[in-house]
Amino acid sequence: MQKNFAGKVAFVTGAGAGIGRAIALEWARRGGIVVATDMNPDAARSVAGEIEHQGGRAFNLGLDVKSLDAIRAAFASAASRAGGIDVLFNVAGTNLMKNVEEMADEEWYSIIDTNLSSVYRCSKQAVPEIRKRGGGAIVNIASIAGIMAENRCAAYSASKGGVVLLTRNMAMDFAPYNIRVNAICPGSTRTPRIEGYMRARPGHERAIADLCPLKRFAEPEEIARPAVFLASDDASYVTGAALVVDGGLTAGFKLPLFEEL
Ligand SMILES: NC(=O)c1ccc[n+]([C@@H]2O[C@H](COP(=O)([O-])OP(=O)(O)OC[C@H]3O[C@@H](n4cnc5c(N)ncnc54)[C@H](O)[C@@H]3O)[C@@H](O)[C@H]2O)c1
Repeated sequence: MQKNFAGKVAFVTGAGAGIGRAIALEWARRGGIVVATDMNPDAARSVAGEIEHQGGRAFNLGLDVKSLDAIRAAFASAASRAGGIDVLFNVAGTNLMKNVEEMADEEWYSIIDTNLSSVYRCSKQAVPEIRKRGGGAIVNIASIAGIMAENRCAAYSASKGGVVLLTRNMAMDFAPYNIRVNAICPGSTRTPRIEGYMRARPGHERAIADLCPLKRFAEPEEIARPAVFLASDDASYVTGAALVVDGGLTAGFKLPLFEEL
């Protein structure tokens, strides 16, 4: 895989923890410059500090992807401080375990806003900046819930399905500007959010891990590496893809009957 991203600037949303943090660290490890943004400014600062401690270059910004004004200001600040933007990683997202009947209207709109509309808003600001560099890439972190429904995750599944199709749409629209747009669809990944959920529900971890053929959760780095690959020149002919990284969960289903034959 491409080793040297020297001078290439990646803007990462939700970089303060989990998959976003792993992407920020992986980009920096390969020599790229990171703009680490998160709604938790302390978390963004801490990741940027970690990168600098390891000899990399990073900027940090507090950024809630629900706010258009904040996004505009963050992209303007990032472009002037880092000298431009080559890559956008849309990572910030959240979940809500409710079905349509249980959900309040505000909860539906909030999940769609955080997970889907944020990708629209950030990409809209990123594209003119990436065009100024002669091209680049956008990588959206969707979910396997965006290609296969998960029970009691109505708004989450709808938002992530939207991210997959928005990815394909932008891949078509921005190819003439040499901007490739791809998505990653992770399966269960051991991030702070998921670990908090597991702590509150002993026994669920094994049950969830057993759903996939590899029988374990992904580590955040195992999602970050394919995400960084999609943004690299090694993926120069890849655009409009939704790369499933799920330990085989969506590969197929197992019939107990066939095991016995
Ligand atoms: N962990 C998984 O199993 C899994 C699986 C599939 C998809 N994903 C997706 O990966 C992405 C990252 O998930 P994670 O598990 O690493 O989450 P996480 O909760 O561990 O970290 C998410 C980070 O995003 C930030 N964030 C949340 N809402 C934000 C907002 N409105 N604006 C800016 N920052 C915000 C949080 O402060 C946090 O630092 C999400 O889009 C999630 O849907 C995760």
